[in-house]
Amino acid sequence: MKKMLWKCFICCVSGKKQEKRHSRDYPWETYTLKDLLHATNNFHNDNKIGEGGFGSVYWGRTSKGNEIAVKRLKAMSAKAEMEFAVEVEILGRVRHKNLLGLRGFYAGGDERLIVYDYMPNHSLITHLHGQLAADCLLDWPRRMSIAIGSAEGLAYLHHDANPHIIHRDIKASNVLLDTEFEAKVADFGFAKLIPDGVTHLTTRVKGTLGYLAPEYAMWGKVSESCDIYSFGVLLLEIISARKPLEKLPGGVKRDIVQWVTPYVQKGVFDHIADPRLKGKFNRDQLRSVVLIALRCTDSNPENRPSMVEVVDWLKGGVGRRTKEITGAEDMVDEEDEDNDDNDTNFERCRMEQSNFRRRRT
Ligand SMILES: Nc1ncnc2c1ncn2[C@@H]1O[C@H](COP(=O)(O)OP(=O)(O)OP(=O)(O)O)[C@@H](O)[C@H]1O
Ligand SMILES: [Mg+2]
Repeated sequence: MKKMLWKCFICCVSGKKQEKRHSRDYPWETYTLKDLLHATNNFHNDNKIGEGGFGSVYWGRTSKGNEIAVKRLKAMSAKAEMEFAVEVEILGRVRHKNLLGLRGFYAGGDERLIVYDYMPNHSLITHLHGQLAADCLLDWPRRMSIAIGSAEGLAYLHHDANPHIIHRDIKASNVLLDTEFEAKVADFGFAKLIPDGVTHLTTRVKGTLGYLAPEYAMWGKVSESCDIYSFGVLLLEIISARKPLEKLPGGVKRDIVQWVTPYVQKGVFDHIADPRLKGKFNRDQLRSVVLIALRCTDSNPENRPSMVEVVDWLKGGVGRRTKEITGAEDMVDEEDEDNDDNDTNFERCRMEQSNFRRRRT
């Protein structure tokens, strides 16, 4: 795999043939090291946006005046080079409104640089737990549109990309936000290409604690449903602004699914919403999103929905979808929907809870 990717990658950076391919298949720009040093003020610390496992990310402006984000590989190692090649290879294959676009890259000497569109509204993590959290820029409609957008990006990777792609590192810092707060799923360095007919692969566990599906964390079994589990965690994080994993006094760790469970069992969905929303959220949607998230994080991967179903449920969202989401028989009829706001429909809550408990055991 590495050889194949690398061959393809080398071909991408150097060959004349490749230049032709760029202009035909990919809207990539060819950058020189000088271009990128100039754009980022020699990778000046003031230009640094953030740092991750791969390296640092810098803001820059090209000579044409375009804003870019440049990811700079921290240290050369076989593993890091592999991630670089995977990212470039995969980004070259995908085009979707909810996936971060690759503008180009540079590989020469010890430098490995990936150039992306700059996302002026940073990442979801910055708004939920980071520097921009206090600004409360994510109102309820924005949160819903980010949830739907990232679900659509992921559904494209799972169902429309050829071969299908499992992302393997779905998390809040890998969902970036453009000027309109539209979600762009980023970071394909951990991704796996899944040949046709293969249902799952066994691999070394990568990804981020708190988002890992149990079968993946324990046995390295990777399939689309691992991404769906991580997406379920992300959904809960988007609506509650709780971290996926919290350290309780005494050092015990509690994940976000454990945190949300008692509220669902008691039917007190309002308690799950981010307090910074100050009660301004759609109660039907909130309940619906929680139930979708719980389906996604079912401990049995076979009970998890596909991303296409998730997109459909998130878009159709409210009451009448509840039956589909939970699989319960009665649920909401259209007339009931007006009463949904007050969470006093105990019968429905009871059914949701018992169905929820059944699924988690
Ligand atoms: N295209 C971009 N536009 C704006 N900000 C970006 C862009 N790409 C990355 N960032 C910012 O840089 C930070 C670091 O990104 P990076 O992907 O290197 O690390 P990470 O996502 O935090 O962790 P990991 O290495 O596990 O993916 C991100 O949190 C994000 O805020
Ligand atoms: Mg990242």
